[in-house]
Amino acid sequence: MNENIITIERHILEEQRRYGGRGDFSSLLSQIVLAAKVVSAQVGQAGLVDILGAVGNKNIQEEDVQKLDVFSNEIFINALNYIGRVCVMASEEEKDIILIPEQYPKGEYVVMFDPLDGSSNIDANISIGTIFSIFRRKTKGNGDGAIEDCLQPGYAQYGAGYVIYSTSTIFVYSTGAGVNGFTLDPSVGEFVLSYPDIKIPERGSIYSINEGYYNYWKRGTREYIDYLKSERNHNKKPYSLRYIGSLVADFHRTLLYGGIFLYPEDLRDPKRPAGKLRLLYEANPLAYVVEQAGGSASTGYQRILNVVPSEIHQRVPLIIGSRLDVEEYEEFAKRNNIE
Ligand code: AHG
Ligand code: MN
Ligand code: MN
Repeated sequence: MNENIITIERHILEEQRRYGGRGDFSSLLSQIVLAAKVVSAQVGQAGLVDILGAVGNKNIQEEDVQKLDVFSNEIFINALNYIGRVCVMASEEEKDIILIPEQYPKGEYVVMFDPLDGSSNIDANISIGTIFSIFRRKTKGNGDGAIEDCLQPGYAQYGAGYVIYSTSTIFVYSTGAGVNGFTLDPSVGEFVLSYPDIKIPERGSIYSINEGYYNYWKRGTREYIDYLKSERNHNKKPYSLRYIGSLVADFHRTLLYGGIFLYPEDLRDPKRPAGKLRLLYEANPLAYVVEQAGGSASTGYQRILNVVPSEIHQRVPLIIGSRLDVEEYEEFAKRNNIE
């Protein structure tokens, strides 16, 4: 393989050498890469094999579970539970924390993931993804991890990233030294460096939000979106609206092109005052990545990475993207609780 083709495995090894790691983290990350390849292959065939459609039950989120949700969840759990690097996991598809089976050694790391993001789009062949977040354990010893290992604030993440299954399968991750993207070359089954050192523009001209909920938004959010659609904003012309409905796809576009993605709190459901997206395996990992790329992620009132989690499926409002756009939203959000 010629010198200038950097596979993700080579990149992981070079980062390990640069930061003097023992290789535990590298082998953990390589297993996530392997799982992503397996899910990508299945997604690619989803139209051909019996993997489309719902399984007929609901998950902890009260959402219809898709077959691909179940498949992806099992792939990521089984890729990580036997390698002796992980002490506990959490998944969108599992009500409680996932302990490592008795027969396998436990390790230093905690992995939490949304195994398949954008499930509602699967049957329409629209981009979907996986999102993952990695911490070092807080609990002492080398036995099972516990809930407190999962409830750490996002600034303590050791690494995070996402996979987007689309026209290409792209793996984007950071371990604290910038953000790099790799595209899967299916002919050799390797992810190859395609987006080195990603930096998000300081301000964009695209906003991404589900406008259908306009009437449920709080005042500041409504006034901010009206401002973006006017000539009063910094660009002196209306922002464009792009909304795919798969967080990973909407985020990936925002990271590359700039702009702002919002899933704000809304007044639709008093049982769900904080919007739909989950802190541990959607907001935190993408907030980690966007900050490593020079952007920002906020609840509207505080930095996402400073939120101290209280339970594994906790939801937060997510305002993420170009730094100046997110800061501008935070100014408007001050009006949210003034009618
Ligand atoms: P998931 O499929 O993992 O449950 O995530 C779906 C999320 C996210 O991908 C997307 O941003 C959001 O749902 C879209 O929600 P709305 O349909 O309410 O806009
Ligand atoms: Mn999701
Ligand atoms: Mn999901």
